[in-house]
Amino acid sequence: MNPGGPVYLDYNATTPVDPRVTDAAMPYWTEFFGNPSSDHPYADRPRHALATAREQVAALLGARADEIVFTASGSEANLLALRGAVLGDGRGHLVIAATEHPAVLQTAQALERLHGTEVTVLPVDHDGLLAPVALDAALVAGPGPAVVSIMAANNETGALQPITELATVAHRHGALVHCDAAQACGKIPVDVTESTVDLLTVVGHKMYAPRGAAALYVRDGVALEPVVYGGGQERGLRAGTENVALAVALGTAAQLAADDIATGAPQRIAALRDDLHDRLSTALPGRIHLNGPVERRLPNTLNISIDRTRGHRVLTHAPEIAASTGSACHSGIHTPSPVLTAMNLDTDRALAAIRLTLGRWSSSSDIDIAADALVRAVAHHDNEGIA
Ligand SMILES: Cc1ncc(COP(=O)(O)O)c(C=O)c1O
Repeated sequence: MNPGGPVYLDYNATTPVDPRVTDAAMPYWTEFFGNPSSDHPYADRPRHALATAREQVAALLGARADEIVFTASGSEANLLALRGAVLGDGRGHLVIAATEHPAVLQTAQALERLHGTEVTVLPVDHDGLLAPVALDAALVAGPGPAVVSIMAANNETGALQPITELATVAHRHGALVHCDAAQACGKIPVDVTESTVDLLTVVGHKMYAPRGAAALYVRDGVALEPVVYGGGQERGLRAGTENVALAVALGTAAQLAADDIATGAPQRIAALRDDLHDRLSTALPGRIHLNGPVERRLPNTLNISIDRTRGHRVLTHAPEIAASTGSACHSGIHTPSPVLTAMNLDTDRALAAIRLTLGRWSSSSDIDIAADALVRAVAHHDNEGIA
């Protein structure tokens, strides 16, 4: 699905909406417009659709339907989890990894600033992984009841944290565990019973639902402070008349993702990704370096640095593809990605990074185009020099 544009290789930024998701949601914007809380027949279809959507999201995560709270974004779900646990359950210590998404990092900073929460930011290794012993040490040294928030999969490198081991360590210390699974859900199996996490974020626009549809799994019995106060919707944790169409979109996307995972989509996508990696390594021998783990990685994610290049300039010379770098640009100055910096990669390597992420509609002809475009772009860049 590259409608007239460059080959789309930025599925970790956002995904196209699956037409089956749009078809399922559309009637709840048009015909079945009723408020699900109303006491008349206009409420029936929306109320039923909302319940089904909740079941579909729960099924993707191995949860119960009444443990799913719909939110308007992954950032909001993360806020509900962290602020909710700190304020609602008297937890004064928040432990996160250095490579968390800004939605977690900045929520942690806000809790520190506004509520005096003690925040511990744990370092990661060269692959971006957090060692369970480091978490153990932080919880031994910490000031009391903690919340631990660790992402399942990193958005830049695809690194998969050892969530089950980390949750086991955290629970041994009586901590509550939140997992930002925005990038993992829909790409690999995620099961809250197996991983034993207490709170988990799922995001629609990373799995072929529209932007603005997300949810937080809240294990039964976990006490949270609400994120929006009002009419008692979403178990009283997030007031506001439910956006039934977006909930239906998220539920449908969850069901499609579960079907995809069951029928080998991750393996198909990983094969295409590895083909792209192999072609680049062959065409540019010794110059391609993988950022992140080889094995413990999302099947769709390839983050590479090409020696003696700047990632943003390679992408400028490759207009045939749409991908991203992790670096930020302010007034023409590029600063390296904080994620790659936290992995202790030097500045040149971090500024050379490009993130190529595949998805449901990636094809082998996309890979042909991308490999050729990138090799040509590097030749162009070599002619210009690095300065
Ligand atoms: C790991 C991770 N967490 C949270 C988010 C935030 O999700 P949203 O854009 O729905 O707020 C993203 C989106 O980029 C993400 O990749």
